[in-house]
Amino acid sequence: MPDDLISQIAAGEVVERPASVVRELVDNAIDAGATSITVRLQAGGVRLITVEDDGCGITKSQLPLALQRHATSKIANLNDLESVQTMGFRGEALAAVNSIAQVSVLTRVAQDAHAWLLDGHSGELSAAARTAGTTIEVRELFYATPARRKFLKTDNTEQAHCIEAVRRHALARPDVSFAIWADGKQLELWRAMHTDGLAPDDHASLDQRIGDVLGHGFIDDSLTLDLRFNTDDGELRLRGRAGLPDAARARADQQFAYVNGRFVRDKVIAHAARSAYADVLHGHKQPVYVLFIDMPPTRVDVNVHPTKIEVRFRDSRAIHQLVSRAIGQALAVPRAGIANALPTPAWQAPPTSGGSPPLATSGQNPLPWRTPGAVSHWDAATPAHSRHAAQELAALWQPHSNTTARAADSTGATASDNTVPSATTSTADPFALPSGEWPLGSAVAQIHGVYILAQNANGLVVVDMHAAHERIVYERLKAQLGDGLDQQVSSQPLLIPTSFAATALEIATAHSHAQTLNTLGLVVEPLTPKTLAVRAVPTALAQGDATTLARSVLAELQQHDASTVIARAHNELLGTMACHGAVRANRSLTIAEMNALLRQMEVTARSDQCNHGRPTWQQLTMKDLDRLFLRGR
Ligand SMILES: Nc1ncnc2c1ncn2[C@@H]1O[C@H](COP(=O)(O)OP(=O)(O)OP(=O)(O)O)[C@@H](O)[C@H]1O
Ligand SMILES: [Mg+2]
Repeated sequence: MPDDLISQIAAGEVVERPASVVRELVDNAIDAGATSITVRLQAGGVRLITVEDDGCGITKSQLPLALQRHATSKIANLNDLESVQTMGFRGEALAAVNSIAQVSVLTRVAQDAHAWLLDGHSGELSAAARTAGTTIEVRELFYATPARRKFLKTDNTEQAHCIEAVRRHALARPDVSFAIWADGKQLELWRAMHTDGLAPDDHASLDQRIGDVLGHGFIDDSLTLDLRFNTDDGELRLRGRAGLPDAARARADQQFAYVNGRFVRDKVIAHAARSAYADVLHGHKQPVYVLFIDMPPTRVDVNVHPTKIEVRFRDSRAIHQLVSRAIGQALAVPRAGIANALPTPAWQAPPTSGGSPPLATSGQNPLPWRTPGAVSHWDAATPAHSRHAAQELAALWQPHSNTTARAADSTGATASDNTVPSATTSTADPFALPSGEWPLGSAVAQIHGVYILAQNANGLVVVDMHAAHERIVYERLKAQLGDGLDQQVSSQPLLIPTSFAATALEIATAHSHAQTLNTLGLVVEPLTPKTLAVRAVPTALAQGDATTLARSVLAELQQHDASTVIARAHNELLGTMACHGAVRANRSLTIAEMNALLRQMEVTARSDQCNHGRPTWQQLTMKDLDRLFLRGR
């Protein structure tokens, strides 16, 4: 094959559209140590892309090499590749671009008296003028391959992709200024933060840049992440921000993950993030996050994908844990829980260990396992009151704090009573803090058996009491069950096993997944060659329809691997138990009971959302209230 054909084929892998060129050129500018990078586009980058930097420049002798294939100044041998710290390492990008567009390189190293201009087409070198640094110009992309050019979208779309490419770089490098111009107009300018005396990677500069690039609302609606793991091979660190569940979006367009400064799309990271949000986000919502993972370069292979957008971790389990823990821990801190800042109230007992809660369920159980594609038994769009008023389930109020537990004991009440153990039965009111001192305030009233109103320092707090309590019960159950997914769900043998006509596939699945079924508290065994018997079900679901339950679990096991099914079932099971265990709407509570609920919310992880991702409370500030009454205008 002629050389230029080889180059063009290689280019096809690297350059898909103008944004790919922008990515490669900005990569190079960053590798050159630039502190300021300007990207200019014409016609979405199809007509012209210029990237100008103030980096180290290229010497005259090296300049012709820059456009040659396999010429890189960044690594010399395979060992270097193992520990590569630069964005580039293949010596492919400029050669590839040069084979499909008209390229020129204008560059000057600081020591030289003037700059040099290289024409990529003719190879001609000429003296030129510019300050130290490099400007690379790419004209008429795909000029020689009209077929490819036809595949490009509108200029606006291509331009948006180019901007996205710069955005990805800019997020990771708050120490570098970025400017984007399109058709003569400046679109973006993200200034480097002056980090005098601060480490360039400190959170302030990161947050500043994230806010500049993604909007300052992103910062308000997200949490700081910073977690380090020490492994035998060195430190793993995750920094960045994770959006609150409220900030989740319909599309996954604000999920940025970086490994050693390189933007990546990675299944392990995405899965870990997803799982950290599993019990605070409704299924279809996409969390937002910016994650910077740093690790010794030897722990990750960056040379696995033509555009370097994928990497391979040596130890993906550690990465998974790092990500899911960092996000999980951040989300677990309740927004209302300024609890840390408050003295620990005497009544706040450490979580009781051991002993499963005396939970009972009654009535027809909605299926706890969601079949793929089916909607869960809670419809997110239905308001809480009508949703739950319709459920004829006994509302249970679990005593949690020492006080309420003691109160319950002393009145001989049991948890399965339909009465709410009243916090007022204890001698001293443990919630007698002056109003306004508790983050969620002091309860003042209940509205239509659905909402609790409380007054705090900022104004009015409105709490969806069922949603809030559901989360509290859920978290407590989860703490008891532990995180270990291999943990056995407590199981209850059926006095009279139910049997059903099963398909050959169901029978085979029951046989090969007996262990998994067991873990989930199910015993499903062949009865005849064409029937299966359900001999035990999860205790919490003992009243449900065993056949439907078994069938849906078998169906899930046919489609997904066992660990996915177990994880999902755990969440769903907990959710069902929590929903049944939570205080029902349309139930009148005393002020003390309302306060007890508020205090539990303040100390319960993830209590800002019910386990379907809806908010459990809202703050109306005095300002909000004043606005309603046009006060102070
Ligand atoms: N903006 C720049 N400033 C300084 N040197 C540059 C710049 N752009 C390219 N170079 C030089 O040109 C060489 C070739 O760049 P090219 O992008 O083709 O390869 P690379 O970055 O080494 O590897 P990769 O193909 O993985 O990007 C680089 O190794 C570098 O020496
Ligand atoms: Mg490069």
